[in-house]
Amino acid sequence: MASWTIFGLVLCVLLVNVNSTDLQVGSSVNGELIFMETVKLSSIPLKVRTKNVFYNNGTNPRVIKGIAAIDLDRSKARATITSGGVGSTFANIKLKSERGDGLHYQIQIFA
Ligand SMILES: *[C@@H]1O[C@H](CO)[C@@H](O)[C@H](O)[C@H]1NC(C)=O
Repeated sequence: MASWTIFGLVLCVLLVNVNSTDLQVGSSVNGELIFMETVKLSSIPLKVRTKNVFYNNGTNPRVIKGIAAIDLDRSKARATITSGGVGSTFANIKLKSERGDGLHYQIQIFA
């Protein structure tokens, strides 16, 4: 009985990992959080929701060390970096939902 419980737990962890669509590049260790934004778009039946999040700080440009985009809904959405990123002073992150789903992401940028 106990082994089934453990098996179930392991399976859950695996499923969570498979469904995880967080984007994590570079490192946030010892980094300073220089940008944080939460994106929430509601779902529209049969529609793919997309959102571009652009970060750039013209007054105080700093080289980005790490980027994290966390899927707060644990959905099947995708996050990709379309320009800039780690090693640049700017970044564009594109969020794309599954058809018929919404988007709920938190973007964090570390320098
Ligand atoms: C740019 O960086 C400065 C210093 O860290 C900060 O005070 C300012 O809010 C930043 N601006 C933007 C648009 O992030």
